[in-house]
Amino acid sequence: MNKREPAVLYSEVTIRERVRELGHLISEDCSGMDEILLIGVLRGCYMFLADLSRCITIPRRIDFIAVSSYNDDTTRGQLRLVMDTRTDITGKHVLIVEDIVDSGHTLHYLLDLLTTRNPASLKTCSLLRKLDRIEKDVHVDYVGFDVPDVWVVGYGLDYSDRYRALPYVGYLEKKAV
Ligand code: IMP
Ligand code: MG
Repeated sequence: MNKREPAVLYSEVTIRERVRELGHLISEDCSGMDEILLIGVLRGCYMFLADLSRCITIPRRIDFIAVSSYNDDTTRGQLRLVMDTRTDITGKHVLIVEDIVDSGHTLHYLLDLLTTRNPASLKTCSLLRKLDRIEKDVHVDYVGFDVPDVWVVGYGLDYSDRYRALPYVGYLEKKAV
């Protein structure tokens, strides 16, 4: 058991400020819409979505979706839908809320899937993005922070289901992973 806490990349205060900015930006951009539907990608989004949804000032609904790869946590395999939304998104203004865009495969898969359901609009928001690792050409409309190629944890993000409840985003030293 690794007793060392992950090194801080973004503190609680820094995250709070950035999430507030994203909330304002989204509220401004969507001000003409009567309502938006935030779809959080489980499980990493849970803390970000909770905070972001409270920083958005226009009417919003919340739903969740979950995808999984056939492989383990850190290697990417074929994606499959493990939990669908409960909402019929046809004709709705949808914002997908992710914890991190790494290779981009998850977001690409979700954009393909949700587009077939004819939402009125479909946008993407991710707390973090690893620019060096992008393999799929996916557009992220709102990004909290562009992070270096390290394994990040905390604020919802995990390593083998640990560290999710940390209030900050940290990174693990290579030897701890
Ligand atoms: P993708 O490679 O963009 O499809 O990302 C797949 C998923 O892997 C993300 O939604 C995260 O849940 C997870 N992930 C990727 N990089 C990290 C990381 O550094 N820390 C924690 N989870 C990650
Ligand atoms: Mg995720």
